[in-house]
Amino acid sequence: MKGIVLAGGSSTRLYPLTQVTSKQLLPIYDKPMVYYPLSILMLAGIRDILMVTRKDEQTAFQRILGDGSQFGIHLSYAVQEAPRGIAEALIIGESFQKSEPVCLILGDNLLYGEGLPKFLQTVAVRNRGATIFGYRVQNPGAYGVVRLSKTSEPLELVEKPQAFVSPYAIPGLYIYDQEAPSLAKQLKPSKRGELEITDLNKLYLERGQLTVERLGRGIAWLDTGTAESLFQAGQFVEVIEKRQGLKIACLEEIGYRMGYMSLEQLQIRAQSLKNNQYGQYLLELVRQEVEEEVLA
Ligand code: TTP
Repeated sequence: MKGIVLAGGSSTRLYPLTQVTSKQLLPIYDKPMVYYPLSILMLAGIRDILMVTRKDEQTAFQRILGDGSQFGIHLSYAVQEAPRGIAEALIIGESFQKSEPVCLILGDNLLYGEGLPKFLQTVAVRNRGATIFGYRVQNPGAYGVVRLSKTSEPLELVEKPQAFVSPYAIPGLYIYDQEAPSLAKQLKPSKRGELEITDLNKLYLERGQLTVERLGRGIAWLDTGTAESLFQAGQFVEVIEKRQGLKIACLEEIGYRMGYMSLEQLQIRAQSLKNNQYGQYLLELVRQEVEEEVLA
């Protein structure tokens, strides 16, 4: 399975913060926002990833993430010329996706919780139809929502419902088979001028090929689209990291633990970052791993 991170958009709700910087490069506590969705793809077992960004921001992403080899992954880049909707990512990614299934994640989505990697690994092997997720929120009207049957079968999808439809919002994480680009091309722009991901999911629902997985309350799905939610997400990461002494979405650590890179590669990377607490964290990880190797 391949991965796409959609990290364009205009982020008007975060102006003036995002007037000259991509939202997805703003800090969530100690690392850029885009690290968090990348960590989700890596934990799901995905190593071949396309970064879709605005044209004027592509260089900044390349400077931070490069070709991904420092994390043991392969990153390529594509441009979204204008924010014409989330579903456009699949059209942009068509030649990258080739005939494989793809996992699309939005560059501003932060997901965290026990068991999530294993769960995503089981879901990420599906190669027919589409899989989306349902997450209970207090303000479903702000999101695309899915109405579910008692057995979690999807019954209806509605984009930002004005009247209550369901408490289940759909997080920005979607898994599609190889049909997705051609289905996305059939979509017409909505009233707000976007190719809506909800409309693509509706096509899969009509074909009887949409699966919805409920994410339980043990999973945190955080929003980062407003100054308040951005700040809260940073606080969430700070609290967990300080309590445990472990980092969330440290891509080098994930790359190493997933077997995408060797201890030697991790060590080289850690050395190059040793002047800051992020590098010190990696050096400590290397030290512990060497100790375990000696003891084994
Ligand atoms: P949104 O929150 O819908 O939009 P935005 O980030 O442009 O922000 P605002 O509402 O403040 O103007 O986007 C969700 C994510 O998807 C975000 O990471 C940006 C990305 N995105 C694109 O890359 N291209 C698009 O065409 C759209 C609609 C979103």
